[in-house]
Amino acid sequence: MKFKQIKENIFYCGLNDADRIIFDELIPLEHGTTYNSYLINGSEKTAIIDTMYPPFTKDYLDNLDDSGVKNVDYIIANHGEQDHSGSIPALLEKYPNAKVVTNNVCKGNIMEMLLVSEDRIIVIKDKETLSLGDKTLEFHIVPGVHWPDTMFTRLIEDNILFTCDFLGAHLPFEELYSKNDDELISCAKRYYAEIMMPFRPMCKKYVKLIDEIKPEIICPSHGPLHDRPEFILDLYRDWASDEPKNLVLIPYVSMYKSVEEMAVYLKEKLESKGVKTLCFDIIESDLGDIAMNLVDAATIIIGVSMVLASPHPAAANVAYIANLLKPKAKFASFIGSYGWGGDLFGKLGGMLSNLKVEVIEPVLVKGKPKEEDYKALDVLVDSVVEAHKKANLL
Ligand code: FEO
Repeated sequence: MKFKQIKENIFYCGLNDADRIIFDELIPLEHGTTYNSYLINGSEKTAIIDTMYPPFTKDYLDNLDDSGVKNVDYIIANHGEQDHSGSIPALLEKYPNAKVVTNNVCKGNIMEMLLVSEDRIIVIKDKETLSLGDKTLEFHIVPGVHWPDTMFTRLIEDNILFTCDFLGAHLPFEELYSKNDDELISCAKRYYAEIMMPFRPMCKKYVKLIDEIKPEIICPSHGPLHDRPEFILDLYRDWASDEPKNLVLIPYVSMYKSVEEMAVYLKEKLESKGVKTLCFDIIESDLGDIAMNLVDAATIIIGVSMVLASPHPAAANVAYIANLLKPKAKFASFIGSYGWGGDLFGKLGGMLSNLKVEVIEPVLVKGKPKEEDYKALDVLVDSVVEAHKKANLL
């Protein structure tokens, strides 16, 4: 594979990993991902921005050889996580004069996680610049999107911003810039839900920083590049805002269809009153689809069967992940069915402690839902509708 040219003397030298099926062993990938790396040939110095996921190190180094890279002076580490910094030791060995350039926090991570020796690292400060001759790199330290060690690198003369994980997507590509907006939105949103949503305040802050920088091209560390920065920035403005949409999300586990009956009933009633509602059978659904809808949902209703006097673990897993991802939902409730007893909602409710939600009275049913249970579900519907109206969503 040869490099892809972004501009004169600026190249994409990353790799697709279309076979990867899950990221962070947490959220499934629909299409795989990419590990983006960039090479800049200045008139005096050559720099690589971000490197490669360790299992692809050989392919990556072969690609550098095939593309005629004889020397690298600087390896810019925008972030210490190994999908981008994992090949730094191999690069340092291949190019013995190269130095890693990074911030102080990332330096510590690289030394601890990759065993890079201190004398091979140059530490930069926020807004410091580094000359490559006719090209200049400027560093912006941006802790929180998504590690404390993260920074952006700006190539001043060409007005290109390398944003590391921020504004990325798990989407392999051949063309540098996606022409399929629907696919890009979907993959970027799934990525945002897993990687960036827990850091919404930081996302808002750094979207504003990028607004000030006004880059011509944004080069993230996963997925296609952005030659229309406003397109991805507008998506992030929406996703990271504090205002949810008029959407109820009902992920449920149903051992004997009772909870499913309740979920379907809620959906029909809520939609008849103008509230968009999505039900996901957790056992059959892609966790990424649930995560994506957590981005917008105003209300989360977890449906759960009792197993061994406790909530079904599949529902507990969704509650745990929702709590980790910190969506902007304003309301939550539960529906559940039990056979012989136990604490169904107490443990689940305790797992949502990160969420700033008002809890709406849940509905607990023994076995199948009966007439009085449907009346309780009607009350739940009315409460959700009222809550959405009060939040100006309906
Ligand atoms: Fe793509 Fe935080 O690494």
